[in-house]
Amino acid sequence: RNIMSSDEMYLLYHGLLLPKETHSLESLKFAQEFTFKDDDVVAVVYPKSGTVWMQEVLPLLLNGGDLTPIQTIPNWDRVPWLEEKRLEAVVDKMASPRAMVSHLPYHLMPPSFHTSKAKVIYVMRNPKDVLVSSFYFHQMAGFLSDPGTFDEFMNTFLEGRVFFGKWTDHLKSWKHSELGDRIMFITYEEMVQDLPAALKRMSDFLGRDLSEETIQKISHHCSFKTMKSNSMSNFSLVPKVYLDSDKSQFLRKGVVGDWKNHFSSEQLARFRSVIHKELQDESFTLPWSL
Ligand code: A3P
Repeated sequence: RNIMSSDEMYLLYHGLLLPKETHSLESLKFAQEFTFKDDDVVAVVYPKSGTVWMQEVLPLLLNGGDLTPIQTIPNWDRVPWLEEKRLEAVVDKMASPRAMVSHLPYHLMPPSFHTSKAKVIYVMRNPKDVLVSSFYFHQMAGFLSDPGTFDEFMNTFLEGRVFFGKWTDHLKSWKHSELGDRIMFITYEEMVQDLPAALKRMSDFLGRDLSEETIQKISHHCSFKTMKSNSMSNFSLVPKVYLDSDKSQFLRKGVVGDWKNHFSSEQLARFRSVIHKELQDESFTLPWSL
């Protein structure tokens, strides 16, 4: 993998680096021409902030806790990425209400998204943990560039030379979306801390009236431990050349605060100063201290 240049690994789409393994100009065109329905739900997540978690959560919430989708359909076909190659192959098989995930910034969403009433759940995660998760993911994913040292990767991340660009740009684009009651924001940390409460908040947003018992059942099936043993969700079906589980796991740790095991005090200061500077003119505040 290391002999491949960045040009061979990534395509550039409106200034964003996207891995060619999973994205193509055709798949991006397909996304642009995609027709959203009013009852579609899309989880928008900056990479490494809980995308695959939402691929477990959404079908369960939308189908009253029915386990069939999460136990019989691989996550990438069950809740496909709007911008990835697989969507075209599975879209006709998706039953309404359809659930999708996306890493796209708001301004690259297709026209039909804007005219529809499709709902968005935006999941945000403390960028320090996003960086750590992404560092390990770059080590295991054959379709991503070698991250180098942690210190080097921190610069790559802060400069936005990673897939889907800068973390701050992604967050800003969706915070400015003005989608009103079509969008809800939730944090990865909130989901880790109290998953049943987070699920309840999401089910209310989606207009689903789920019993306490159903919420508990869903919570059990979306736990890190259960997902790790679900072959339809743990990427064990993917060949090693794409995801090398000897180097790291996709479902790696699933905790809050792993950054403390990785950041030096100098790195913390550098990271904070860049993120603070990029968000200094924003009216929103972050739900965690940096
Ligand atoms: P870590 O690498 O910190 O463990 P994405 O799906 O956006 O690529 O995000 C992957 C991150 O979400 C990984 O973080 C993964 O372990 C975590 N994750 C996935 N499912 C989870 C769950 N049920 N509980 C906690 N974390 C989960």
